Amino acid sequence: MSNFQSPRGLPIKHIKIGDLRFRLFIPESIIEERIQELAKSIKSDYRGKNPIIICVLKGAILFTSDLVKAGEIDGQIDFVRLSSYDGTTSTEKVKELMSIASDIKGRHVLVIEDIVDTGRTLDYYLKHLKKQEPLSVELAALLLKPDALKFPVDIKYLGFKIPDLFVVGYGLDYNESGRGLRDIYQLDLPDVGLY
Ligand code: XMP
Ligand code: MG
Repeated sequence: MSNFQSPRGLPIKHIKIGDLRFRLFIPESIIEERIQELAKSIKSDYRGKNPIIICVLKGAILFTSDLVKAGEIDGQIDFVRLSSYDGTTSTEKVKELMSIASDIKGRHVLVIEDIVDTGRTLDYYLKHLKKQEPLSVELAALLLKPDALKFPVDIKYLGFKIPDLFVVGYGLDYNESGRGLRDIYQLDLPDVGLY
């Protein structure tokens, strides 16, 4: 799968969040189409398995909801909140700000994440889950930035590969703004010109 490219003819649409300008990148209709495909695979792979579906808060809330609904996926939904950031700096340590309530021993587990960047968060969390002896652990992620990946993470259900640029919308935020946007926007880098 190559990096997602905005379709030709996509309207040029900019939004401003705080001090930054973003440009329309993945429109809602394309997100919906991809979710239908992923949901179909997940539904058939997990038929009769009653998985524990772990939504990684906060970013994956919309993706999880749409995925589960699109596939009418039967499972037990739980939530975890993870943070690899201390203030504004990325740290080596991933903190679990909120843990799942379920006992995953002997269960099939599907973790749902919005975006895999360096992979640090999910590398840590999947290892942590595997220690609890689940029957299986798989990962669904809407977005992956392959050029930023430093920790190997195996994503069984991937929405889109994207370039290493900051994105917002559809659950993803910039300083807690932009999560409710229907489309995904990419940081609009100013053209580098001669002045
Ligand atoms: P790592 O590096 O651990 O990072 O894979 C994953 C977490 O970092 C956040 N993240 C982003 N959030 N736009 C966002 O709104 C982005 O482009 C972005 N890249 C990384 C996100 O919380 C993810 O869970
Ligand atoms: Mg996240």
